[in-house]
Amino acid sequence: MRIAVYSSKGSAGKTPISANIALDKGFCIGTNEAFHVYDNLIDENKLISISTEEAFPKEIAEHDIDIVFDLAGSISKSAVSISSALEMSDWVIVPIYNELKSLIGGINTINQIKEYNKNIIVVATKLQKQKSDMIKDNWKQSEDFINIQNQVQNSLGQDIKILPLKYSKVFDNIFEEKKSISQIMDNNALASYNYREVSRQFDEIYKLIGI
Ligand SMILES: Nc1ncnc2c1ncn2[C@@H]1O[C@H](COP(=O)(O)OP(=O)(O)OP(=O)(O)O)[C@@H](O)[C@H]1O
Ligand SMILES: [Mg+2]
Repeated sequence: MRIAVYSSKGSAGKTPISANIALDKGFCIGTNEAFHVYDNLIDENKLISISTEEAFPKEIAEHDIDIVFDLAGSISKSAVSISSALEMSDWVIVPIYNELKSLIGGINTINQIKEYNKNIIVVATKLQKQKSDMIKDNWKQSEDFINIQNQVQNSLGQDIKILPLKYSKVFDNIFEEKKSISQIMDNNALASYNYREVSRQFDEIYKLIGI
């Protein structure tokens, strides 16, 4: 299984989402970022780090390696790392949060990705409770989620799949504790209580992807 996590817009959560999936499922990480955070997080033999202009090796697909590609930068003729990863992936996850630049950047990114891969999932990230929200555990009814959903579906059609991922401090703990969210919750009652919702939301993403 190969999963690309990509948006040309930064700070949407590509790296924390990629890291959580890789640690949870024991997947490798592929990155095209020169200054990445994975050296301390992922075993050397599970990390493929290349430059933007390089292609990810064909062997990844030929040997059906389980990998998450955390892709930075914009799609262009010279950014072969991005196009090669998009082409060989089973799924492309595009994180978008409820902020104008992220929405525009995310929607433009999806239009570009479509030329390489049609299996696109939007993850509506960094969802926060707004004053008007009466939500308990249904983040699909939150103002942040509904706005992202409306904007994305109005621009790209109703068929595109969108899943919620709430804002949480636990995403920073992944790198401090070198554990996935569910691993952080193991044997820790308070963490287990605090992060139950974001962990459930990841399970929903895993179910959709089939991992
Ligand atoms: N639901 C969420 N999903 C992803 N990140 C979240 C979420 N909630 C909070 N965060 C925080 O938002 C930040 C997003 O991560 P980051 O800025 O590394 O994203 P990125 O897309 O990898 O950015 P860059 O383009 O700079 O690589 C992190 O600090 C993370 O802890
Ligand atoms: Mg990143």
